[in-house]
Amino acid sequence: MGCKIAVFGTGYLGATHAACMAELGHDVLGVDIDSNKLASLASGKAPFFEPGLDEVLQANIENGRLRFTTSYPEAADADFADIHFIGVATPQKRGEFAADLSYVDSVIADLAPLLTRPATIFGKSTVPVGTAARLQQTVLGLAPARDDVEVAWNPEFLREGYAIRDTLQPDRIVLGIDRERPGRAEQVARQVYSDIIATGVPFLVTSRETAELAKTSANAFLATKISFINAMAEVCDVAGADIIELADAIGYDPRIGRKFLNAGVGFGGGCLPKDIRAFMARAGELGANQALTFLREVDSINMRRRASTVEKTRELVGGSLIGARVAVLGAAFKPDSDDVRDSPALNIAGQIQLQGASVAVYDPKAMENSRRLFPTLEYAVGVAEACIGADITLVLTEWEEFRNLDPAKLKTLVREPRIVDGRNCLDPERWRACGWTYNGLGTR
Ligand code: UDX
Repeated sequence: MGCKIAVFGTGYLGATHAACMAELGHDVLGVDIDSNKLASLASGKAPFFEPGLDEVLQANIENGRLRFTTSYPEAADADFADIHFIGVATPQKRGEFAADLSYVDSVIADLAPLLTRPATIFGKSTVPVGTAARLQQTVLGLAPARDDVEVAWNPEFLREGYAIRDTLQPDRIVLGIDRERPGRAEQVARQVYSDIIATGVPFLVTSRETAELAKTSANAFLATKISFINAMAEVCDVAGADIIELADAIGYDPRIGRKFLNAGVGFGGGCLPKDIRAFMARAGELGANQALTFLREVDSINMRRRASTVEKTRELVGGSLIGARVAVLGAAFKPDSDDVRDSPALNIAGQIQLQGASVAVYDPKAMENSRRLFPTLEYAVGVAEACIGADITLVLTEWEEFRNLDPAKLKTLVREPRIVDGRNCLDPERWRACGWTYNGLGTR
């Protein structure tokens, strides 16, 4: 029989988790303070673009297993859940590297006083190590059921664009429990995830601290891998070598692996950039700041990609961007997403405009979010409109639509057939054969 589950926070993480838990057969209530978001979700439409999510939402709303509410009492009601997942955001604090935990804290502050019966709280949000133990203490002070309420950490490793698959077929499930005083959390998690565990997915039980660190260190490793290959791309540029061939050559070594070795304008999004910064801040608080100083370098290599792409563009148009017409294809931080948080593409477009160019941006899905973040850029309805009269064209997000562009057709629209391939996703020979000046990042 399915479990009764409440999921607090219905952003990327929470909405996906709620929908997927219902898909597994559980009775799920998604809880948020944002009633607009809930209205959209309740109508079967996610307020963001995630392939396949709307279908899972609709199916489970129809079969009655998935509902949404702003009411905490409804979620904690004796007839409803005693399994509570926290999936709210933990953004970067303003003006600091550290994570802002106010959303997590306020879920606990509102939920704990309502917990009169034994319950399990599973944190999924990415948090600084030590947060779960701290929240356990808060719960102890606020919940009428006192130490019958257990706080465990169950980090989420999902990627945007693959969120459903990553939730229903994860590489592993990590559960952090209080090793000194283990309660029912492991048993409850095994029940919640029984269908997934039955398929052979590894289920790792660790301390809460290890579970929290598993998430932050995974993201730190991925960011490091991308900055490593981008640093190699800088060397390739000056040495006349080719980063794609280099990545292939080293990636065949299974100890290295070819995945996440794509050089380009670097990483962005709502996770990697802020998570490595929060990790550095937390290590500093704990007195281990030296251990993570390399992440500063990872961050600066990544930011340098944006600056050097702007510089390359300026050089290619003859040394000054003033008055240049620039077409930017791609605004999302990666393809199959409408997310523009800390997007390298949009950041580069903005910098180029600030240097005096007129910039036309097109993205298949991220137009609305981009307009909100960067209202001063010009937005085109399609590739053709963005490229009309362009002195230079930049591909900054590797959408399928851009990979398949026809260089001959595009050449008839632009003023100058110059292209910067910021994701090394185009075939240089094909573009050069049509008369384009092709520039990859770290490629010949
Ligand atoms: C990431 C982690 O992958 C995921 O496990 C975690 O839960 C959340 O953070 P996500 O932010 O969705 O997921 O994106 P991801 O696919 O990891 O890409 C992050 C950024 O790195 C993107 O901007 C992408 O374009 C860039 N990237 C990725 C590269 O520049 N090169 C690569 O080889 C891979």
